[in-house]
Amino acid sequence: MTKAVRYFSKSGNTKTIAEAIAEGAGVSAVSITEEPELKTYVDVLFLGGAPYANIMAPELKAYAEKLEASKVGKVILFTTSNWSRRTVKALKKTLTEKQIPVAEDYFYAHMLHVQGRTEAAREFGRKA
Ligand SMILES: Cc1cc2nc3c(=O)[nH]c(=O)nc-3n(C[C@H](O)[C@H](O)[C@H](O)COP(=O)(O)O)c2cc1C
Repeated sequence: MTKAVRYFSKSGNTKTIAEAIAEGAGVSAVSITEEPELKTYVDVLFLGGAPYANIMAPELKAYAEKLEASKVGKVILFTTSNWSRRTVKALKKTLTEKQIPVAEDYFYAHMLHVQGRTEAAREFGRKA
């Protein structure tokens, strides 16, 4: 099964979790600003970000809107917000509307407890 991890992170929290998930999955975590599109098909795409002032980053929204259903088997989401799960909900809606399957289960690490959640994130990436 092929896996990939893509994320958007302004201040590093999501990046930390992305890297832990990627370690578990045996791949590298890649920022969507470094690689704006998936180059090859993957069975599982872990996709993560966070809300800023109640909306997800426009960069992440654009990435989800551009993602082609033919490039991915399913998406598994992760987020590191303060309280809102808005990014997960919004991404799920965008992707589902494009007929891209999104796993019910997602990974959440509160922004203040990211370091304490890396082991769980690694396990999440390994199990999927
Ligand atoms: C300007 C700003 C606005 C934010 N707005 C929200 C918000 O509306 N809801 C929320 O739950 N978290 C909010 N947060 C918290 C971020 O989602 C959280 O710090 C997240 O971990 C940032 O991810 P990053 O470090 O990967 O950029 C905000 C953070 C910043 C800096």
